Amino acid sequence: TTKIAVFASGSGSNFQAIQQAIEDGKLDARIEIVVTDKPDAYVVKRAGNFNIAVFSFVAKQYASKADYEQEIIDTLKEHEVDWIILAGYMRLIGSTLLSAFSNRIVNIHPSLLPSFPGKDAIGQAMEHGVKVTGVTVHFVDEGMDTGPILSQAAVEVVDGDRSATEARIHAVEHELYTSTLQKLFKNEIKLVH
Ligand code: GAR
Repeated sequence: TTKIAVFASGSGSNFQAIQQAIEDGKLDARIEIVVTDKPDAYVVKRAGNFNIAVFSFVAKQYASKADYEQEIIDTLKEHEVDWIILAGYMRLIGSTLLSAFSNRIVNIHPSLLPSFPGKDAIGQAMEHGVKVTGVTVHFVDEGMDTGPILSQAAVEVVDGDRSATEARIHAVEHELYTSTLQKLFKNEIKLVH
């Protein structure tokens, strides 16, 4: 069983999908802890519903990004976490965390990367007028949504309807993230790069 930490800054619907897949026997992993940079985020309530411990780290309370990330690493080590799973964690991962968890950090992003990296990928896609967007699961490197791609799925845009498009993307995310993590932990994914 792979020990994971889920990092989230927002609603936590991907956190919940991962925990649900674990409880349904579809994903052989255990969420040891949730890490958030937003103590008021809805993910905190969701984690409470599953009795999963949440650790909040407010970045501006630290002297540097390295200090902030070192504090997180100490907590991850205490809980013997093997993998970091980013699920709507809206902060760029720095070199301190990257070197402590080298090739052990995964992210989900709501577009077909390399299109529409960064913030509000769904808004960017609608603004650009693409008819098909999607979801990408990828390894995290020092860039913004640039790491090696593990899996992707296409989602058709609902013309002029952001919330309907978003609902489709979220549904695909929940399915793709859990199935990709299961393959990753079972060593069933081959990378091109
Ligand atoms: C998800 O759509 C995820 O792909 C996105 O934030 C949302 C979090 O939703 N992440 C990014 O945009 C990262 N650049 P959730 O809190 O309900 O899981």
